[in-house]
Amino acid sequence: MTGRPRGTATGAAPDDPGGAPVNLWFCPNEDLAPGIAATLAPHWLDEHEQETAGRFLFERDRRQYLVAHTLVRRVLALETGIPEAEAVIWRSSRGRPFLQAPAGGLPRGAATLDFNLSHAHGYNLLGVSRRRRIGVDVERLDRGERGLDNIITTFSAEERQWIDEAAPGRPRDRRALRVWTLKEAYAKARGLGLGLPFDSFAFHLAEDRGVVSFRPPGDDLGGDWRFLEVEPVPDVLAAVAVEVDPAQPPSVHLHHGFPWGRAAPRRLVLPESPTVR
Ligand SMILES: CC(C)(COP(=O)(O)OP(=O)(O)OC[C@H]1O[C@@H](n2cnc3c(N)ncnc32)[C@H](O)[C@@H]1OP(=O)(O)O)[C@@H](O)C(=O)NCCC(=O)NCCS
Repeated sequence: MTGRPRGTATGAAPDDPGGAPVNLWFCPNEDLAPGIAATLAPHWLDEHEQETAGRFLFERDRRQYLVAHTLVRRVLALETGIPEAEAVIWRSSRGRPFLQAPAGGLPRGAATLDFNLSHAHGYNLLGVSRRRRIGVDVERLDRGERGLDNIITTFSAEERQWIDEAAPGRPRDRRALRVWTLKEAYAKARGLGLGLPFDSFAFHLAEDRGVVSFRPPGDDLGGDWRFLEVEPVPDVLAAVAVEVDPAQPPSVHLHHGFPWGRAAPRRLVLPESPTVR
């Protein structure tokens, strides 16, 4: 638990011209003590989640899963008012989780709510959008022995060339991971994950941060996507793909830590639409 200032964390804020913001919830595993996660899990997680948690061979992986899914249920409760244990989460045939809206619609005025989770290497990121689709991905820059060469081969030719122009080592790895997290975020927003060929769409990135242009896959030429790159802690790269109504682009709130209370988020600016090629 943290002693961060309290404030409005969810719902529409008066200075959010686009209505309810997109909320990003970044939570390192260490922000939820193992004993607390283990205590909450049998009360909050559904049968499928508890079975999955029970199948991990390594305690480290079980812990990651428990923190991630406790976070999902806590955030959905904050976002909708549905108690943690009562949220019904179903999965598409490709494994993408969705919140099932109760018969009378979602509480707190949301007509729709989309969420997406990424959990890796001790970090969890959850994105919640009140209107349209969202996808997120989080990766550590230091990947130890798990090199990036295999994943780079799945990228488009122009992305591979841009990565190869960087100096070997961290500069090249950073470029590769920026492309990778953005591709995952977009593919996850679409609900396709790795089922979407990663060379069927491409990003052209600014030197430091941000998407300059986007070539969508052939089956998604009309979408209005915004892409956000965030480094919530040093050397942890996160990407968000969110579909917006261009007339009402939402603001973005980044929350840090396990949300026991309503700590004030950091406000981020949602970038303009990239050029679509
Ligand atoms: C989605 C996918 C890219 C995740 O890869 P990853 O980098 O290892 O993992 P991340 O931590 O970023 O994301 C995992 C989370 O994404 C979500 N997710 C799972 N499938 C998803 C999908 N198709 N689209 C969007 N999100 C998905 C889940 O919440 C998952 O965590 P959970 O299983 O603990 O609930 C990968 O699992 C995938 O490609 N899945 C689709 C597989 C498919 O098409 N199957 C068809 C039937 S065989």
